[in-house]
Amino acid sequence: MREILLLSGPNLDLLGTRSPEIYGSATLEEHVNAARARAELAGYRLRHVQSNFEGELIETVHAARDSSAAIIINAGALTHSSWALSDALAIFSGPKIEVHLSNPAAREPFRHRTTLAAVVDGSLAGLGALGYLLAVDAVVALLAPR
Ligand code: DQA
Repeated sequence: MREILLLSGPNLDLLGTRSPEIYGSATLEEHVNAARARAELAGYRLRHVQSNFEGELIETVHAARDSSAAIIINAGALTHSSWALSDALAIFSGPKIEVHLSNPAAREPFRHRTTLAAVVDGSLAGLGALGYLLAVDAVVALLAPR
């Protein structure tokens, strides 16, 4: 399988206009296009799914077991609350990298809790757009035969 699944959670569809002082001015489409170009350079195609619905994200992770080699996820606020998404990601056996544009550890206390960090291979936070590119590099490296 030569597909990387990029999953975007709630409210990330509003990037570009949503709190640009925190998340920057780039749209989600711009982040996805940059990540896709990076993945294609490495010989992978990138499929992107954004949803504001927890169940849809969970079902997309389930289906990815048959279609995708790796998952990159920015789960938005579900990062801080969703044990169900955490359980779904734990079932996916390929590389998993979590990305956050901002640094949740430096923000409000409710963002300090994460239900996802323990089930992914690594987390990138606070690096803005660069986080998406580094996440692609990370899954490509993790997928490389050792
Ligand atoms: C976010 C951080 C989350 O705390 C927040 O709820 C988001 C975006 C980020 O990319 O910085 O929706 O995941």
